[in-house]
Formats: sequence, structure tokens, C-alpha cells
Amino acid sequence: MKSFGPKPWILPQPVLIIGTYDKQGNPNAMNAAWGGQWDAHQIIISLGSHQTTDNLAVNPEFTVAFATATTLVAADYVGMVSGRNTPDKMPKTGWTIEKAPNVNAPLFKEFPMTIECRVRQKVDESATGCYLIADILNVLCDERYLSDDGNPDVESMDLITYDPVHHTYIGLGATEGNAFSDGKQLK
Ligand SMILES: Cc1cc2nc3c(=O)[nH]c(=O)nc-3n(C[C@H](O)[C@H](O)[C@H](O)COP(=O)(O)O)c2cc1C
Repeated sequence: MKSFGPKPWILPQPVLIIGTYDKQGNPNAMNAAWGGQWDAHQIIISLGSHQTTDNLAVNPEFTVAFATATTLVAADYVGMVSGRNTPDKMPKTGWTIEKAPNVNAPLFKEFPMTIECRVRQKVDESATGCYLIADILNVLCDERYLSDDGNPDVESMDLITYDPVHHTYIGLGATEGNAFSDGKQLK
């Protein structure tokens, strides 16, 4: 086994699109890979100093959408340029933007699934950012991506993951097995 020392290489990483409003109500989005579930009702995001950070300071509600193969280019774009100095950042994405139903944050309609969140706590806050812990207030899923049991059909969403080693986006792929079930073969 080759050793690489400490690296930010938890695999696979999500491609989270964080939607916020600035104090004038202008929408913004950024890409975040270093985030995940904190507990059953909360998420955590490692947040640097961005327009998004400024927006959350004045309006602590936001959306988190999961990027897909078809939203990849614009999802990458919102992770490379800042709303701080790019006034046409959101028009360039081509995304359809509405206010989310339950939070004061933008909903990007091209994404199959989005969670609506409110900041609960900022851990280790400094000029360079913080670890954001936020309550999940609601989960929204476009009806076109529901399975027969009425729940989100993850496989149909064409989600992408971020490869932090080679800085690529990799398609999620097909179902390989059943959790809490296939392992029973070895019991
Ligand atoms: C693949 C990828 C992953 C990223 N992950 C994070 C992250 O986890 N946390 C973070 O603060 N910034 C992350 N960024 C950087 C922000 O998305 C980027 O600085 C963005 O321009 C901020 O936009 P804003 O200033 O308009 O809010 C990531 C960017 C890319 C392309």
C-alpha cells in the first residue's frame, strides 16, 4: 500500500450546490464538496469565505441541491467564480430560479432533489470561514424522479460525485446491492 499522508480524500464526495440570497434578495450559488450529514436532522458544510458566507450572515437560510450530469458545467462554474465580483454569475448558469417554498433561499429547478436548510451553528468561525451546522427543514424532490414507492429514485437522477484526487466529476452509477440485506449472506 502506498502512503500519501493526510489528504482531503474522503470518497466519494458529494457535489452540493448551495443556494442563498444576498441582502437585496439576489440569488447566488456555490459548489461544495466538503460537506455531509451531521446527525439525523442536520448537515455540516466546511465553508470558506465566499459571497455565500456573506449572504448567510444576513440571511441564515439556504438550499442544497445535488449536482447531476446535466447540471455539471454550471455546477463547476459556480464553484470557480464568486458572486462577490461576477454580477452575471447566476444568469450564466441558465438555471431556472424560484424562491424555495419553505426557506428564504433560491431553488434551482434543474436539480432533481434539494434540501431546505437553516443555519444552526457556525463552528470555529473566523475570517477564513467556518464549519456550518444547519437544520434540514425539508427535502424537495421533482415528481419526475420519484420511484413507485413514492420516494426519491436516486438511481434515476444521474448524480455526480467529486473526485478530490484528480479533480474530476464521476457519475454515480447503477445500484449494486441492497443495504442491511446483502450482508446477511455471511451471517
Ligand atoms: C468541486 C468544488 C468543490 C468545492 N468545495 C468547496 C467546499 O466544500 N467549501 C468551500 O467553502 N468552497 C468550496 N468550493 C469553492 C467555492 O464553490 C467557490 O469559492 C465559489 O466561487 C464561491 O462562490 P461565492 O463566492 O459566489 O459564494 C468548491 C469548488 C469546487 C469547484
